[in-house]
Amino acid sequence: MHAAVNLLPSAPPPAGPAIDLRCRRLTPRHVHDLLTFLARLTASGDGRLFHPHAFTREAVEPLAAFGQGDEYHVLTSGRDGPVIAYGMLRGWKEGYTTPSLGIAVDGQWRGQGIGRRLVTHLHRIAAARGARTLRLKVYRSNTAALALYRSFGYEFRPFSEIEWLGSLNLAAAPTRMAA
Ligand SMILES: CC(C)(COP(=O)(O)OP(=O)(O)OC[C@H]1O[C@@H](n2cnc3c(N)ncnc32)[C@H](O)[C@@H]1OP(=O)(O)O)[C@@H](O)C(=O)NCCC(=O)NCCS
Repeated sequence: MHAAVNLLPSAPPPAGPAIDLRCRRLTPRHVHDLLTFLARLTASGDGRLFHPHAFTREAVEPLAAFGQGDEYHVLTSGRDGPVIAYGMLRGWKEGYTTPSLGIAVDGQWRGQGIGRRLVTHLHRIAAARGARTLRLKVYRSNTAALALYRSFGYEFRPFSEIEWLGSLNLAAAPTRMAA
C-alpha cells in the first residue's frame, strides 16, 4: 500500500539567500514528492493548465525509472526537500527531433524566478541532446506562461481555438539560456 499524498500547503519559501534550489533528473526517490506536488496542482485548479500525463503513481513511476527516452526533471528545495517545480522535454521517444517542453511551479513558489530557472535548465538539456528547436502548447488564457515563454523568444501561432503552439529556435537564443 502506498503512503497517502499530503495536500497541506508546502512551507512557503524561507526568507534569505541560503536556499538550495536544484534541478534534478526525476528518479524513483522523487515519486512520492512529485505526486504530492501534482496533487497540490490539481487541488489549486492549475491541473487545467498543465496535464502532460495522468497524475498517478502508475503513470509517474515508469517516467522516474526509465524516462522512456524523454527528459523528466524536478526542482527541489535541498537534496531531499519537496518538489517545487516539475518540467519535461518529450517527443524523442516517439522519434521526433523537436521536443515539447512543459513546466509547472508550485503555487507557493511562483514569481521568484523558479519557472525561468527550470526552462533554462531544460533548454540546456535540449541543446546538449542536439535539439535545434523546441515546441510547446499553451492555453491562450495562460498569461503568466505566455509571458515567461515570450521572454525566452518563443513565437506563437494558433494551434486551436483555445491554444497557441509555441516554437523556439534554440541556436538563435543562446543569451536567453545564460540565466
Ligand atoms: C507559468 C509558471 C510556470 C511561471 O512560473 P514562475 O516561477 O512564477 O515564473 P518566474 O517567476 O520564473 O517568472 C518568469 C517570467 O514569467 C512571467 N510571469 C510569471 N508570472 C506571471 C504572472 N502572474 N503574470 C504575468 N507574467 C508572469 C514574467 O514574464 C516573468 O518574468 P519577470 O519576473 O522578469 O517579469 C507558473 O505560473 C505555473 O506553474 N503555472 C501553472 C502551470 C502552467 O501554466 N504551466 C505552463 C503550461 S504551458
